Amino acid sequence: MDLTYRPRRLRRTPSLREMVQEHSLNAADFIYPLFVHEGAEVEPINAMPGANRWDLDNLIAEVERAWKLGVRCIVLFPKVADSLKTEDAAECYNENGLIPRAIRKLKQELPEMTIMTDVALDPYSCDGHDGIVSSQGIVLNDETIENLCRQAIVQAQAGADLIGPSDMMDGRVGAIREALDDEGFEHVGIISYTAKYSSAYYGPFREALDSAPRLTSSKPIPKDKSTYQMDPANAREAITEAQLDEQEGADILMVKPGLAYLDIIYRLRQESELPIAAYNVSGEYAMVKAAAQQGWIEEKAVVLETLLSFKRAGADLILSYHACDAADWLREG
Ligand code: PBG
Repeated sequence: MDLTYRPRRLRRTPSLREMVQEHSLNAADFIYPLFVHEGAEVEPINAMPGANRWDLDNLIAEVERAWKLGVRCIVLFPKVADSLKTEDAAECYNENGLIPRAIRKLKQELPEMTIMTDVALDPYSCDGHDGIVSSQGIVLNDETIENLCRQAIVQAQAGADLIGPSDMMDGRVGAIREALDDEGFEHVGIISYTAKYSSAYYGPFREALDSAPRLTSSKPIPKDKSTYQMDPANAREAITEAQLDEQEGADILMVKPGLAYLDIIYRLRQESELPIAAYNVSGEYAMVKAAAQQGWIEEKAVVLETLLSFKRAGADLILSYHACDAADWLREG
């Protein structure tokens, strides 16, 4: 054939392919989410094979392992005892709570590792919502934000580097920024869950923390989070959220879930110059693990291809439960 252009010319050899490769993965792009609990042992999480609830001693060892593999940031989630859960989730700002203790210990043992936190009430709420639920079953915005600000300050005092509000209350980024600044934490950053969708992909996470919405009294409790998390049908609304978070002082914008929302990552990349993070959430992780366990897919290849898709869509950072495995595989080449 008389072809002028033959794209296959640049695919012919490994070195040519490497030369023209547009995107690549780096262990320092990853943020590794870890679950902590008060127990004395490492407890596997049923729906997330390979992920665990860590006790504080083993947490240190796991974070050291991640650091050695090149991972530079972790995010912590607490499994809180039912006895500590209340309607106002006041345990979230207990300075001797699980998360502040974990942060202090990590900062002592491994000060170089960047520590991100999650700001939301759900792990501490007996109702399993990210905000305070009124007696009429409404998730209250402004009242919730007061607690979120106290939670963020306690985390910053313990040594957190990046505060991650995942609650989706309106105005929380600005309020947290102001609260941090007032307390002298102007150097602490905010990685905002900007476009967080009301998603069924969070199922395994809620099992890990036993944090799903539930009825504990006669109070009506919304069965899902759709009055504050975004509607999966909406894309333009993500841009509005991003604009608000930028105005309110977010340092990094996040899209969550990641894989089912690659278009949102791409759109935010066009709209903002801030770094963008993608959260490859628990349900996305569980699906890959389940298929791999069945021998239906090749785990390493699928994980690396998936993580690369976030970079291609425009993400700078990727939160993934596969972070350590992927960092290890990248070293192997
Ligand atoms: C809590 C929170 C959730 C996740 C991160 N922070 C669950 C939720 O909003 O219900 C989900 C993470 C995952 O599924 O991996 N606000």
